[in-house]
Order: sequence, then structure tokens, then C-alpha cells
Amino acid sequence: MFDSTHAHITTWAVALILFVVVLVLQKSGKQKGAKITQMILRVFYLLIIATGVLLFSKHQGYNPALYGIKFLGGIIVIGMMEMILVRTAKEKNTGVFWAVFIAALAVTFFLGLKLPLGWNMLL
Ligand code: HEM
Repeated sequence: MFDSTHAHITTWAVALILFVVVLVLQKSGKQKGAKITQMILRVFYLLIIATGVLLFSKHQGYNPALYGIKFLGGIIVIGMMEMILVRTAKEKNTGVFWAVFIAALAVTFFLGLKLPLGWNMLL
């Protein structure tokens, strides 16, 4: 858990899939299914943060600035997923939230790959 990124990767990969599933259910009018799936997605938010914090607490000393941005980026990605889903359900505008989501996801993903654990294809 502290040295391997597998658990962390599993949690955000599942969360991204569930995020798409909730959007599809919302768009096809299946509001009940969307709500239940969104509850499961919220559990995965907590698991992403828990596994991220475990990695962060042990390894951030290597480069606190980059690890800090990674942490913040991950939290913003989660915040944007939640905002997009809540606003889509209320049929409100989500354009800005999509833009921030995509930018934060790109930064978080890039930093995750750049930091020393796990995959290191960008070093
Ligand atoms: C949906 C949000 C997130 C995505 C898409 C994401 C993505 C990634 C990726 C791609 C990696 C690299 C895995 C590897 O190289 O094996 C990683 C590692 C990591 N993530 Fe996240 N992450 C997210 C949220 C978070 C959060 C919220 C935190 C902090 C609480 C966090 C902390 C970390 C840490 C500390 C590492 C290890 C970096 C290293 O030393 O290589 N992540 N993440």
C-alpha cells in the first residue's frame, strides 16, 4: 500500500469508469440507477484519497512541491467529477467544469507518471 501504486491505480480507474456510467444513465433518463451508481462512485472517491494519502505520506519528502501539486490535482479531479454529475442531474451548464476536469486530469496523470513510483515512462 505504501510502496505500490496498484491499489491507487485500481481506485481511480474504477472511479473514471463509474463516472462515465453515471453520465450515461443520467442521459438515458435512468435517474434511480444513476443515483445508486453515484453513491458507489463516492465510496471510490474516498478510496482514491485514502490510497493517495498513504503514498503521499511516505514519499512526498522526495519532492514536496510536485507531490503537493499531484495531491491538489487529484482532489480537483474528484471535485469536478462530482460537480459535473450534480449539475448534469439538475440540467445546469457544465462547460467550465469539464474544462477544469480535463486540465486537472491531464496534470494529475502526467505528474503521477513522472513521480518515481510505479510507471516511469516520462522520466
Ligand atoms: C482521479 C484522481 C487521480 C488520478 C487520475 C491519479 C492518477 C495517478 C497516476 C497515473 C499515478 C501513477 C501510478 C504509477 O506510476 O504507478 C498516481 C500516483 C500517485 N497518486 Fe494519484 N491520482 C489521483 C488522485 C490522487 C489523490 C487525491 C492523491 C493524494 C491524496 C494522489 C496521490 C498520489 C501519489 C502520492 C502517487 C505516487 C506518485 C509516485 O511517487 O510515483 N492521487 N496517481
